[in-house]
Amino acid sequence: MTPRVLEEWGNRVAAEYRSAALAAQVLHWGIMAAFPENLLHVALRVVRDELDHASISHECLEALGGGEQPVPLDVTALAAAPTAGILGGLIDSVLVNFCLGETFAVPLFDAMRRGTTHPAVRPVITRVLQDEAIHRQFGWDALDELLLRGDAVRDRVVAQLPGALQAFRRSYAPEHDGEPLTEEERGAGLIELADYRRIFHETLDQDIGPRFARRGIALPPLS
Ligand SMILES: [Fe+2]
Ligand SMILES: [Fe+2]
Repeated sequence: MTPRVLEEWGNRVAAEYRSAALAAQVLHWGIMAAFPENLLHVALRVVRDELDHASISHECLEALGGGEQPVPLDVTALAAAPTAGILGGLIDSVLVNFCLGETFAVPLFDAMRRGTTHPAVRPVITRVLQDEAIHRQFGWDALDELLLRGDAVRDRVVAQLPGALQAFRRSYAPEHDGEPLTEEERGAGLIELADYRRIFHETLDQDIGPRFARRGIALPPLS
């Protein structure tokens, strides 16, 4: 398999493991913030799912021939800062990692799955895609719970959104295009940078924007 495929799957293992850590932190903060019990149980499920995603992604990396591929795990990125106290940290993490991160993840994994032909890859992406839809719903439900707690929450979401969207735009919608993927690379679950860019803008316009609008929050223009 090409170095680009192995590097991408190494990155995915690290990203899934980081998602597990950040979901565990949201669970802990959610307990401290007295989230409703049903929401806490969904958060617990998300932690388990993300640990599964990390391990099945690693099995996939091995099946692709990347058993020796280093996984770029940054231990310092496994916790979010509790900015402005527990509630502030919780709002920021729900916004960035769930409302935005998981909502972008669903159509991205869907696009990856459509091109996948490799037998070790397809079941992994299928499992992740099924779970991410539940994680996305958790994010918006958690946001609704937080919004019940006063106007300061809404003000914080509005203040954090421009920077958070710019960060996602930098990673998902770069202006440049990479070397075109080979058939084998697409079959192993990779998609073109142009696909990332298109999906970023479509998801923002057709999904994330309307979800915020229903909550009385306007998306800031992408400058
Ligand atoms: Fe995941
Ligand atoms: Fe997830």
